[in-house]
Amino acid sequence: MSEPTPCAYDKNNPFPAKLKVRCRANAPESQKETVHLEIDLTGSGLVYKSGDSLGVFPRNTTQLVDAVLKAYKFSGDESVTLPKTETTLSLRDALTTQFALGAITKKFVQFVHDNAACDCDKAKLAEVLGNADPVAQKAWIDARHVLDLGEEFPSVKCEAQAFIEQLRKLMPRLYSISSSPEFVGKDSVHLTVAVVRYETNGRKRDGVCSTFLGEYAQVGETTLPVFVSNSHFGPPADLDAPVIMVGPGTGIAPFRSFVQDRAARGAKGKNWLFFGDQRVKTDFLYQAEWEKALADGLLTRLDCAWSRDQDYKIYVQDKIREAGAEVWKWLNDEGAYFYICGDAKRMAKDVEAALIDIFKTYGGLDDAGAAAKLKELKAAGRYQKDVY
Ligand SMILES: Cc1cc2nc3c(=O)[nH]c(=O)nc-3n(C[C@H](O)[C@H](O)[C@H](O)COP(=O)(O)OP(=O)(O)OC[C@H]3O[C@@H](n4cnc5c(N)ncnc54)[C@H](O)[C@@H]3O)c2cc1C
Ligand SMILES: NC(=O)c1ccc[n+]([C@@H]2O[C@H](COP(=O)([O-])OP(=O)(O)OC[C@H]3O[C@@H](n4cnc5c(N)ncnc54)[C@H](OP(=O)(O)O)[C@@H]3O)[C@@H](O)[C@H]2O)c1
Repeated sequence: MSEPTPCAYDKNNPFPAKLKVRCRANAPESQKETVHLEIDLTGSGLVYKSGDSLGVFPRNTTQLVDAVLKAYKFSGDESVTLPKTETTLSLRDALTTQFALGAITKKFVQFVHDNAACDCDKAKLAEVLGNADPVAQKAWIDARHVLDLGEEFPSVKCEAQAFIEQLRKLMPRLYSISSSPEFVGKDSVHLTVAVVRYETNGRKRDGVCSTFLGEYAQVGETTLPVFVSNSHFGPPADLDAPVIMVGPGTGIAPFRSFVQDRAARGAKGKNWLFFGDQRVKTDFLYQAEWEKALADGLLTRLDCAWSRDQDYKIYVQDKIREAGAEVWKWLNDEGAYFYICGDAKRMAKDVEAALIDIFKTYGGLDDAGAAAKLKELKAAGRYQKDVY
C-alpha cells in the first residue's frame, strides 16, 4: 500500500481557511461571550481526529495597529525586515500579522526610555526601571501594553526597524476541536471559543485571537491561517469502554467531538458528561445537542454544575463528589476512561482532588493508595487532561 501524501500545511505553512459559520453559544443576556465556529478545510489535506486542537494565527485589528502607528509617530509605510529573515514588508503589515502588540517586557520599557526625547519621560521611565520593589515594578509593566507606552510617553521617537526588533512574535493560539471528522465531514472543523475581554491600566483589552475569531473575522471572507496540532488526548480505541468527561466552560469542546465520534463509530460504551458554567438559562452550551444525545442514548448521564444560579458556588467537582460511588464503580469495576478539559489553574486541580477523595471514600484507599491508583490510570491512558 502506498504511503498517504503528507499534508503541505502545518504550523510553518498554515492553511488559509475560510470561516463558514459563527454563532453565539451563550444566550445574549449571558455575562459570557462564547462562540461556536465552523471552519472550512476544503483543499487543505489537513487531517484531524477527535481530541486534536486547531492552531490559529491571529491578526491585530486595524484600529489597534493605527493607534500604535500614531502613538509612535510612524506612517505605516516604512519598510521593515523581519528578524533573522530576508522578508521585507511594510510596518503596517508587520504590525498586523507578525508582532504582538499586547503585554510588554522590561526590555521594551528600557527601549522606550532610551528613545524618549524629553527628560520628563526619561525620568519617569527611569523611576520604573529602577524601582527596588520587584512586585510593584512587575505590576506596572503587566498593566501596560505596547500602545500604552507610546501614548503615556509621547516623546518617544525611534526607527521602525528598531521598534519591531523590540516586539514579540505574534504566536498562534490553540483551540480544542469540538467536532469529529467522522460526524461533520473531514473538511469541516468546529471550535468553541470564549472571547477574552478585560481591563488593565484603565483601558479595555481584547484577547487577540479570541476576538479575531469571535468578532473581527468575517464569515465567508476573512482568511484564517490554521494548522492541526495532533494530541494524545482522545477517546478510547476500545468502543465498549465507558468514558467520563469533565468539561466546564469551553472545556466542553473536545467532548462534543468525543460524543460525535463515538456515535459515528457506533460505540457501545457508556458516556457520562459533567458540564458546568455560570447559569443554566444562558450558559448551557450546546444544550439541544446534549438533550438529544441523552434522548438517543448516546449520552448515558449528564450532570451540570451551575455556579451562579444560587448564592453559593456549585462546581463540577461537587457533582463528581455527589456521584462518587457511581464514579468509583465506572472507574474501578467497569474500566472507564476519565477526561478533564478546560481551566488548568484551578478547575483541573480541584477535579483531581475530588477524584482522589473518591478513591479514598469508596475504594478504601489511603493517601498513598489513592495516588498510586491515579498513577495507574494515567499509565493506562485512562486519566487524560487537555487543560490550559
Ligand atoms: C491545548 C489548548 C486548547 C485550548 N482550547 C481552547 C478552547 O477550546 N476554547 C477557548 O476559548 N480557548 C482555548 N484555549 C485557550 C486559547 O488558546 C487562547 O489562550 C485564548 O483564546 C486566549 O487567547 P487570546 O489571543 O484571545 O488572548 P491574549 O491576547 O493572548 O490574552 C490573554 C492574556 O490576557 C491576559 N488576561 C486575560 N484576562 C485577564 C484579566 N482579567 N486581567 C488581566 N490580564 C488578563 C492574560 O495575560 C492572558 O494570558 C486553549 C489553549 C490550549 C493551550
Ligand atoms: N490561557 C489563556 O489565555 C486562557 C484564555 C481563555 C480561557 N482560559 C482558561 O480557560 C478556562 C475556560 O474558560 P471559560 O470561559 O470557558 O470557562 P471558565 O471561566 O472556566 O468557567 C466555567 C465554569 O467553571 C467555573 N469554575 C470557576 N472556578 C472553578 C473551579 N475551581 N473548579 C471548577 N469550576 C470552576 C465557573 O464558575 P464561576 O466563574 O462562577 O466561578 C464557571 O461556572 C478559563 O477558566 C481560563 O482559565 C485560558
